[in-house]
Amino acid sequence: MSGIDVVHSRAELAKARAGLTGTVGVVMTMGALHAGHETLLRAAREQADHVVVTIFVNPLQFGPNEDFDRYPRTLETDLEICRRAGADLVFAPSVADMYPNGQPTVRLHPGPLGEDLEGLSRPGFFHGVLTVVMKLLQLTRPDLAFFGEKDYQQLTLVRRMVRDLDVPVEIVGVPTVREPDGLALSSRNRYLSPAERQVALTLSAALRAGASAAARGEDAGAVLAAAHRAFDSPGARLDYLVLTDADLEPGPVAGPARLLVAAWVGDTRLIDNIGLELAPHA
Ligand code: PAF
Repeated sequence: MSGIDVVHSRAELAKARAGLTGTVGVVMTMGALHAGHETLLRAAREQADHVVVTIFVNPLQFGPNEDFDRYPRTLETDLEICRRAGADLVFAPSVADMYPNGQPTVRLHPGPLGEDLEGLSRPGFFHGVLTVVMKLLQLTRPDLAFFGEKDYQQLTLVRRMVRDLDVPVEIVGVPTVREPDGLALSSRNRYLSPAERQVALTLSAALRAGASAAARGEDAGAVLAAAHRAFDSPGARLDYLVLTDADLEPGPVAGPARLLVAAWVGDTRLIDNIGLELAPHA
């Protein structure tokens, strides 16, 4: 492919990376790229001299009953999207390339936030995410790393990891991309049947209702109640719907806050979130 270098091994990556002068931005993905990823790539393109994309379905972050085997793998289309968005280098290793000594026994511990929300339903998930993110940061050595706000807990934990462990990289959060009807883009949306896709709209509807209540100046309790009322679909099974502060700490009273939702639609677990501002209440 012209204009884009695609490498699979760590040795090839090291060689290609050594040839990049100026600032490097990395976008880490598990492939199955969509317009949300493309937005991350374009943000990286604007802010860095070179854009490196990693494509790796990381087994460490899938539980035994999760969708590792059926997770969509669409490398040719992904490369097309990377090329269109102006990426310079794609690193698409195999599991053996990434973990040549088998699955690592030493892993990053995400701390208490990693055991909450997604971590409650998916034990070990953030240990796997942070471990691979740290490895990919070591291998790609970026100045900037771009993560979507769609996975807000992941973004928050990556920021904390970089801060707590003095990793020399700037983490850039990029707003969620939505379909015109509000559905947040996700690689897992392709699991949804047309009927399930309709049901899935209840997640973003709940978030919108909460955000509207906040915009009307209602307090945290009323915001959460409005979101719960709008989460109204017999086809969706709610996992959590919570209001936190912008750092995912519980109990915001006023100021920047985050409303987060996770739910099952059929066999597919979906997550979404929105930022809002809570007015002060006496
Ligand atoms: O957000 C994702 O796609 C993954 O969790 C990441 C950051 C690429 C790590 O595997």
